Amino acid sequence: MTKISSFSEYQTEYNRSVNDPEGFWAEQADKFTWQKKWNKVLDWNFEDPKMKWFEGGQLNITENCLDRHLAERGDQVAFYWEPNDPSEKNIQLTYKQLHAEVCKFGNVLKNNGAKKGDRICIYMPMVPELAIAVLACARIGAVHSVVFGGFSASALSGRIQDCDCNIVVTSDGAFRGAKAIPMKETVDEALEICPSVKKVIVLERTKTSVQMISGRDVKWKDEMTNAATDCPAEVMDSEDMLFILYTSGSTGKPKGVVHTCGGYMVYTHYSFENVFQYNGGVYWCTADIGWITGHSYIVYAPLLAGATSVIFEGVPTYPDAGRFWQVIDKYKVSTFYTAPTAIRALEAAGLDFVKPYKLDSLKVLGSVGEPINEEAWNWYNENIGKKNCPIVDTWWQTETGGILISPLAGLTKTKPGYATLPLPGIQPILVDDKGNELKGNGVEGNLCIKFPWPSIIRTTFGDHERCKQNYFATYPGLYFTGDGCKRDEDGYYRITGRVDDVMNVSGHRIGTAEVESAINTHIDIVESAVVAYPHDIKGQGIYAYVICTNKNKDHDSLRREILAEVTKVIGPIAKPDKIQIVSGLPKTRSGKIMRRILRKVAEGEMNNLGDISTLLDPAVVEEIKNGAL
Ligand code: PRX
Repeated sequence: MTKISSFSEYQTEYNRSVNDPEGFWAEQADKFTWQKKWNKVLDWNFEDPKMKWFEGGQLNITENCLDRHLAERGDQVAFYWEPNDPSEKNIQLTYKQLHAEVCKFGNVLKNNGAKKGDRICIYMPMVPELAIAVLACARIGAVHSVVFGGFSASALSGRIQDCDCNIVVTSDGAFRGAKAIPMKETVDEALEICPSVKKVIVLERTKTSVQMISGRDVKWKDEMTNAATDCPAEVMDSEDMLFILYTSGSTGKPKGVVHTCGGYMVYTHYSFENVFQYNGGVYWCTADIGWITGHSYIVYAPLLAGATSVIFEGVPTYPDAGRFWQVIDKYKVSTFYTAPTAIRALEAAGLDFVKPYKLDSLKVLGSVGEPINEEAWNWYNENIGKKNCPIVDTWWQTETGGILISPLAGLTKTKPGYATLPLPGIQPILVDDKGNELKGNGVEGNLCIKFPWPSIIRTTFGDHERCKQNYFATYPGLYFTGDGCKRDEDGYYRITGRVDDVMNVSGHRIGTAEVESAINTHIDIVESAVVAYPHDIKGQGIYAYVICTNKNKDHDSLRREILAEVTKVIGPIAKPDKIQIVSGLPKTRSGKIMRRILRKVAEGEMNNLGDISTLLDPAVVEEIKNGAL
């Protein structure tokens, strides 16, 4: 693994990665344990699309995450686990202990019928057992599909059905701040319509009583007591599936993004070492393992790098808004990676929550998930980093597997709001709406990538055509990210946000279409349109326009019922912040909703609606403007 150590070395490596990508990535891949070396580094085209890395190579990613480290750092802590409630005892797992737990749980999965290639759904709180379950799947060659614990039964069943899981790993419940949230109960409800699931493995966390269905449900603890500790790593082809992770798009149901073993391993490790310039010390990423950031930069990359990390169960504001800073001091965290929405919330809480803490162990700060506004960047820099820690604003996506555009900590000169420069191996290109390349600096357009990198999405599970249409058809020959982007006079990249109908709410990616279809399940709603609007803390808030057929309906109860409906269909993260009840939506003569107008009204830009002459019924706009929230 080449760890870049100066900006000029970055430039040299970057050029080499473009001029000789296969040589460049073969050299990075060579550092890992392969059971058989690959025959071909890269085979690709963006038309089918086909992306294959290190074909013919055989490996198991957990051997590289765990076994490889045992001799040298078996007694080093791999994970510190910090519980939701600071008065509960924390846990630490060394590499040796983690290896043993993963092997045992691998056997538990096998004892419950899991085989190589099976899909296993993991729906758990942020406890060490979540990471153990993920790694145990990889150990035995099963494909994990982690579903974020905040999703509803309906969202969970959709994801289980889509990839035909045969096992679900869950917990009785989850602690989040002051609340205990049921999980097993949600699984039970979801499974009413998931006949493929034969076994449910239940961890005890909240000690709430749960129903155990005989023959189907087993307890984590009982199963682990009986499991053998020896679990040889399954031999995987480089292009065998490692995991599926569902993410929202602009249309239809969430899609199952597929990542494979070899390329994902090589790229996540490479990006981790270089972006964070990780050099020992304690690393903490505050994401949830239910999202890609947690997969890549809590579970896989830090373990591949032999790092010591913190896994945190709680939330930034419980018991108070000093919780993050307290955890940093407690574990002497040197690399801290969080999301702008958390930074903004903690900034709003005030400096009194920061002052009691030293924060002097910090060396590198990271940001991920959404554009970071300049004010939040400066606050983070001044009050947390004490102007002494480089901030890496890392841009990437579920589909990219790892960070693509980011400063390298301490090497790349940073600029607030800018993800700065592409990592070696990443060839960004900006295009206009017709697909023409915008050359040179000082341009703004749609962000695409023109050459594959090892952890690029391989397909969308069960529907390759969807993968093609979503990412490779808009601008033929290019991977289209869905993001808008500026390249400034220095050649620095600044992501401006999504250019499609995907919202980014507190760093969570939510499709407008998904929220609309959830709202439309309400009996009194005939149609709805959902748009995002700027929100001080969440980055974007959700604004819903709904048409209600029941003229006698009380608006407050309607709003409450809509929120309940969205919570039921998707989960609380997708609840609209504002719901405006309207009698019509602005549509073109061909029946298309003009979202541009709805967005403007939601943003409060009433007097700047642009051309509305093509509308079927321009009067609707007046009503919407007058009733704006
Ligand atoms: O719009 C971009 C935004 O988050 C989207 C990807 O969301 P998801 O797949 O859930 O992955 C989030 C974590 C990697 C992107 O299309 N995004 C992510 N990071 C940044 C960002 N926008 C601006 N700056 C970032 N650093």
